Amino acid sequence: MAMFSPILLLFPSLFLILITQTTAQPKFLYQFCKNDTGNYTANSTFKANLNTLLSNLTSNTEIDYGFYNSSYGQDSDKAYAIGLCRGDVKPDDCRSCLNDTIVLLPEVCPNQKEAMAGYDNCMLRYSNRSLYGILETRPSFKQWNVANATDQDRFNQALRDLFESLSSRAASGSFLRKYAAGNATGPNFQTIFALVQCTPDLSELECNDCLVGTFSDLAGSNIEGKRGGRIIKPSCNFRYENSRFFGR
Ligand SMILES: *[C@@H]1O[C@H](CO)[C@@H](O)[C@H](O)[C@H]1NC(C)=O
Ligand SMILES: *[C@@H]1O[C@H](CO)[C@@H](O)[C@H](O)[C@H]1NC(C)=O
Ligand SMILES: *[C@@H]1O[C@H](CO)[C@@H](O)[C@H](O)[C@H]1NC(C)=O
Ligand SMILES: *[C@@H]1O[C@H](CO)[C@@H](O)[C@H](O)[C@H]1NC(C)=O
Ligand SMILES: *[C@@H]1O[C@H](CO)[C@@H](O)[C@H](O)[C@H]1NC(C)=O
Ligand SMILES: *[C@@H]1O[C@H](CO)[C@@H](O)[C@H](O)[C@H]1NC(C)=O
Ligand SMILES: *[C@@H]1O[C@H](CO)[C@@H](O)[C@H](O)[C@H]1NC(C)=O
Ligand SMILES: *[C@@H]1O[C@H](CO)[C@@H](O)[C@H](O)[C@H]1NC(C)=O
Ligand SMILES: *[C@@H]1O[C@H](CO)[C@@H](O)[C@H](O)[C@H]1NC(C)=O
Repeated sequence: MAMFSPILLLFPSLFLILITQTTAQPKFLYQFCKNDTGNYTANSTFKANLNTLLSNLTSNTEIDYGFYNSSYGQDSDKAYAIGLCRGDVKPDDCRSCLNDTIVLLPEVCPNQKEAMAGYDNCMLRYSNRSLYGILETRPSFKQWNVANATDQDRFNQALRDLFESLSSRAASGSFLRKYAAGNATGPNFQTIFALVQCTPDLSELECNDCLVGTFSDLAGSNIEGKRGGRIIKPSCNFRYENSRFFGR
């Protein structure tokens, strides 16, 4: 008996590893299933349209700016989707990230017509209504580093200055990409790295409004005074950390 046990132990674990590698998508950073917007059934036309739409969303390999916008179907069964990658993510990594969301989101929200989820590198939204060109600030996902920044007042001022300069750069970006990232030096030589991004379908004014609103959400939240944090909304997002987390 004893001499078989290593094999018995080894094989089931190998099997498990193979299964998880081929089927499991990494868990989302955030996910919202909108359950007040309408539900669909597995055999519905909407579901079939959504499947077609999602499986085709990243098929245009000429898109190299990280924003995908598409729709499929007719009338009340039409499905709409938007995919956004962080502005520094390379096209292949972008498609691969969105491909993961495309598989996982309908599993996580199996009946909801409207849903949103994402990872560090990308976000997917879909619905039975058009999403393109509409400023949306809810729902909102927040995350923070538990460590406090030192000298919080001066830190906050440095963060605000950095945020404002990045926001105006991002908002003035093109209809293909509205993204900016950079760093600043806070009190006690603390380097602050930050990025801001809007979906590029927003106007400059809308992008700026979305970002300003997002930054003002920091005040009084758990993020205020922390060394790092982020807020992600459907139309824009903001993140800062004490080490570099974005590419060049
Ligand atoms: C509806 O959505 C909210 C927010 O996403 C969630 O907290 C709640 O559990 C959902 N309810 C159901 C029945 O899925
Ligand atoms: C989306 O679906 C819900 C419920 O099924 C429906 O009430 C709503 O009118 C639909 N929206 C559009 C734009 O068709
Ligand atoms: C959709 O289904 C959820 C449960 O999955 C339920 O809580 C919600 O009320 C339903 N929404 C509509 C509009 O029927
Ligand atoms: C889809 O399945 C539901 C039960 O899950 C059933 O009530 C409905 O009639 C079916 N609809 C179609 C179009 O087949
Ligand atoms: C799939 O996407 C391509 C663009 O990449 C488009 O030309 C084609 O019509 C789409 N197919 C479907 C079924 O939506
Ligand atoms: C985005 O998708 C919507 C809905 O399908 C469409 O009306 C719009 O023209 C698209 N915009 C771009 C820039 O592709
Ligand atoms: C993403 O999925 C599409 C369609 O299934 C596939 O053609 C493409 O190779 C995938 N791209 C990446 C980078 O995984
Ligand atoms: C972090 O700062 C807050 C005040 O902004 C304070 O209440 C809290 O005790 C500090 N936490 C640590 C671990 O120093
Ligand atoms: C900080 O940003 C400047 C440009 O504003 C850049 O030259 C420098 O390399 C950045 N520092 C780090 C550590 O990334």
